[in-house]
Amino acid sequence: MKDAVIGIIGGTGGMGRWFAKLLRKEGYQVHVSGRKTRFDIADLVGRCNVIVVAVPIAATAKVIRQVGPLMADGSLLMDLTSLKKEPVELMLSCSKADVIGCHPLFGPLLADIAGQNVVLCAARGSKWLPWLRGVLRKSGLVVMDKTPEEHDQMMAIVQVLNHLNTISLGLVLAQTGIELAEINKLSTPIFQTKVEIIKKVFNENPGLYTDIIAQNPATLNMLDRYEKALADIRALLKSGDGTKLKETMEQAARKLF
Ligand SMILES: NC(=O)c1ccc[n+]([C@@H]2O[C@H](COP(=O)([O-])OP(=O)(O)OC[C@H]3O[C@@H](n4cnc5c(N)ncnc54)[C@H](OP(=O)(O)O)[C@@H]3O)[C@@H](O)[C@H]2O)c1
Repeated sequence: MKDAVIGIIGGTGGMGRWFAKLLRKEGYQVHVSGRKTRFDIADLVGRCNVIVVAVPIAATAKVIRQVGPLMADGSLLMDLTSLKKEPVELMLSCSKADVIGCHPLFGPLLADIAGQNVVLCAARGSKWLPWLRGVLRKSGLVVMDKTPEEHDQMMAIVQVLNHLNTISLGLVLAQTGIELAEINKLSTPIFQTKVEIIKKVFNENPGLYTDIIAQNPATLNMLDRYEKALADIRALLKSGDGTKLKETMEQAARKLF
């Protein structure tokens, strides 16, 4: 697929720019569009046989509906969205192109991507799959093949539960009304690490994290589990001196590790 010419919608943003750089490094011609660029979506389709959708989650469906019908048989329509079920279904229904869902499981600012995971959801056609897999593997990424459903279920844990935990910690910290600088005077290494994570989630791209949480169908289930875990901790502490909580943690550790 050395004749691949790639157009990235959202190529002026974080992940789009990251993917453009990776592909250009491999010698591919890459065109990008944003909302204010010289090229628009139709220009990209006219010039490229691979189109990548890398816009914010909330804009993804609209962009796929726009670009899908313009694409020719035999070309590739793919995305980098953090959720896979809805974008992949839409790419299939709105186009005749080959379709691959792709989710790099890291952010655009990570300096060394070697050994990081990327999920592929092969949805239509097999022509482009070895090419994409090859490009990603050559950059040192570990490629995992999943269905969109499998991906989204796992993201309910890896992203939704994880970020809910970070957001609740950040909100409680803010509610205490104590200056972080004061808290930091007595901080521990674990606390410092957690504050850095809270800072990244609250400051860097809060819209991305809230979209990841709001759009995953398993979010309410995760919230129920999270609330139950907190209620269980309260009950375990109420009925003893901490021994019951310690035993529950030991049981969980045996399951987990
Ligand atoms: N950031 C991450 O850590 C990460 C990791 C993995 C996957 N992803 C996924 O990658 C995708 C992009 O996320 P990102 O963090 O790279 O976002 P981003 O930095 O905000 O970039 C978004 C890009 O989309 C364009 N855009 C914004 N709104 C648009 C609209 N309504 N119509 C068309 N284009 C629009 C922006 O162009 P202009 O602003 O120039 O107009 C920009 O090029 C998302 O689906 C996200 O789930 C993100």
